[in-house]
Amino acid sequence: MNNTIVIKVIILALLLYSCSRPAEKQSTTIYDVLDNTIETKVDSLLSIMTLEEKIGQMNQYNGFWDATGPEPEEGAAAKKYEHLRKGWVGSMLNVRGVKNVRAVQKIVVEESRLGIPLIIGFDVIHGYKTISPIPLAESASWDLDAIQKSAGVAALEASAAGINWTFAPMVDISRDARWGRVMEGAGEDPFLGSRIAEARVKGFQGENLAANNTIAACAKHFAGYGFAEAGRDYNTVDIGPSTLNNIVFPPFKAATDAGVRTFMNSFNELNGIPATGNKFLQRDILKNDWEFSGFIVSDWGSITEMIAHGYAKDGKTAAEIALNAGSDMDMESYLYVEHLARLVREDKVEKHLIDDAVRRILRVKYELGLFDDPYKYCNEEREKELIGSKANHEAVLDMAKKSIVLLKNDKKLLPLKKEGQKIALIGALANDKNSPLGSWRIAADDHTAVSVLEGMQQYKKNTLVYAKGADVSLGKTAFVTETKINTTDKSEFKEAIESAQNADVVVMVLGEIGFQSGEGRSRTELDLPGVQQELLEAVYKANPNVVLVLNNGRPLAITWADEHIPAIVEAWHLGSQSGNAIAQVLYGDYNPSGKLPMSFPRNVGQVPIYYNYKNTGRPVEPDPDIVFWSHYSDQQNTPLYPFGHGLSYATFNYENLVVDSVNSSIESPQVKLSVEVTNTSDVAGKEVVQLYIRDVFASITRPVKELKGFEMISLQPGETKTVSFVLDHTTLGFYNNDNSWIVEPGEFKVFIGGSSRNTIMSNFNLD
Ligand code: BGC
Repeated sequence: MNNTIVIKVIILALLLYSCSRPAEKQSTTIYDVLDNTIETKVDSLLSIMTLEEKIGQMNQYNGFWDATGPEPEEGAAAKKYEHLRKGWVGSMLNVRGVKNVRAVQKIVVEESRLGIPLIIGFDVIHGYKTISPIPLAESASWDLDAIQKSAGVAALEASAAGINWTFAPMVDISRDARWGRVMEGAGEDPFLGSRIAEARVKGFQGENLAANNTIAACAKHFAGYGFAEAGRDYNTVDIGPSTLNNIVFPPFKAATDAGVRTFMNSFNELNGIPATGNKFLQRDILKNDWEFSGFIVSDWGSITEMIAHGYAKDGKTAAEIALNAGSDMDMESYLYVEHLARLVREDKVEKHLIDDAVRRILRVKYELGLFDDPYKYCNEEREKELIGSKANHEAVLDMAKKSIVLLKNDKKLLPLKKEGQKIALIGALANDKNSPLGSWRIAADDHTAVSVLEGMQQYKKNTLVYAKGADVSLGKTAFVTETKINTTDKSEFKEAIESAQNADVVVMVLGEIGFQSGEGRSRTELDLPGVQQELLEAVYKANPNVVLVLNNGRPLAITWADEHIPAIVEAWHLGSQSGNAIAQVLYGDYNPSGKLPMSFPRNVGQVPIYYNYKNTGRPVEPDPDIVFWSHYSDQQNTPLYPFGHGLSYATFNYENLVVDSVNSSIESPQVKLSVEVTNTSDVAGKEVVQLYIRDVFASITRPVKELKGFEMISLQPGETKTVSFVLDHTTLGFYNNDNSWIVEPGEFKVFIGGSSRNTIMSNFNLD
């Protein structure tokens, strides 16, 4: 059946449907009908679908054969092909490129009875082919406009490659740097995480989801995935209602309010119930309380995984549990397509729940405009013109510079002088064109990032000598063949040390390779892998003028470096333009303004570590002889670098924090605050002014500090700006254990500064 016939069938169904509507519905005005066109179309399409076709919409398959080649004749691929023809597949993932997308779309549109187009999903996590910084790095910019724009560029390229749905943003809050997937998120804070979630959703989805340059976003992984015990991926999550409501949920709620069209559930169990089979999460919270009208896709095979969790006895039960709990689409478990029809016939699954799931999926397909033109993302010319364009590279370069965090700059070693210097550049990562692309960059071409070496070679008036020194050691868990696993080879130390001895300044690029973080890449050590620490110490001995540039996907414990190395730059995995961004920051052509979105621990034993901790009953005991207070006997409590920390080549002074006015009514409180920030240096710079509060006594204990506002300002040398904030009902309250948002009377402290540690303070009361 071709598309014209489909449209005819739909119009007929529409007419039949509207004639059969109850009298009071028929009296609706033309405006109501216009407002509800998609809903009406969805209902009429549903009314002509068989049960099997409905279940087909809830089935998602991975790309499985060369879609433009001959059709598969046997095995799993042949089965999937047959299901496509029958209209038993609603979505595919990992099919990319206009040719391939057109080929699979053509099968369903032309060969299935109703020709309902596929929604094509892909992990567009930080760029499609032109790669932007990993999400954790982008989050360090605290620049919401830039983050939104970056997601927009990713959507532009992905949509040009035939994709119309990204499995992003990942909005899982995490306090555990051991967890490899912290690279995909926005860090440890729910307020910052919420603002970034909104920015990313708006960036991907744009103003108009039906445009051909925007794609549907997916808030994932719902919920609690970032709280995996011991930071081990997929591990058990056991957290109470206060953490769930106040820390885990807010970015998901923010994404919902920003209009995100899909959610993904998660691999973990939450308090004994796998998220995929969790009715409380999916039906009660998301679909009911938050009135989410899009659909939920399972994570890869997560319906089947409920058997291993010990929650479902077999595949059929797993399908029943997942559907009843509210998982609308089955990613690669093959269980909905196999069991749901029977489960309906056996009255184990109610038909209206199937209809609800299908309605949600069709709704998003209509919103994307797929029924108007299933091939709207399939334009070869657009694909050629937009992917990897100069404009996209400029955009990711801008984002990369904004993502860099200057952790330390003693002796004013940075910015580097542009002339007459001998610079030794050391470290395998300095000459690496692959690692900066980071994890989750499936469509990028390997070895296409600008390396630090290439970036620094642009500055031609200095002498640059490169020495590798040592390889990065991978450990056992990263599946990369081209890099040496567990290397202890120090044979190239000598050359590196000699180059350092002959240099004015040494730049060392050390850290993790791109695939050392990400899914399945948890670590129990947070040091510089392999012999890199030894290399750092040996080079420092030869020449202490070392600038350490870190490439990594998670906070690292670099306590020795902080004690000895004068300048440290956090440069994450910055994407296609990494080397250019790093060089421009090192040479002062760009003044860094990034701030950490996650605390950096002093050692792995401090993890989980986060700035918004609770005070305990025994918080601080200054007398070193007293043992019984909340502390370690071998390390301080504080992190090495706190949340919100980041320097600039400029310096800033904060003063005159004033509580300008307080409307202390509990129903609609409003507190106005202001602070004066001065650039006390002789260079222009940007500063992220951060506002934290502490609710001193409450019916549920509150953190010692909670971020509740921030603003990025630019200041010329000597310039002062007054920055104002307003706190209200949405920022002064918290969720109690009954899931209700409450503001309570009493004293509040307020802190403003350039990090969660360096703040000035005032206070106010609510009656
Ligand atoms: C990940 C998801 C991802 C999916 C599809 C899973 O392993 O957890 O985040 O979207 O694969 O690639």
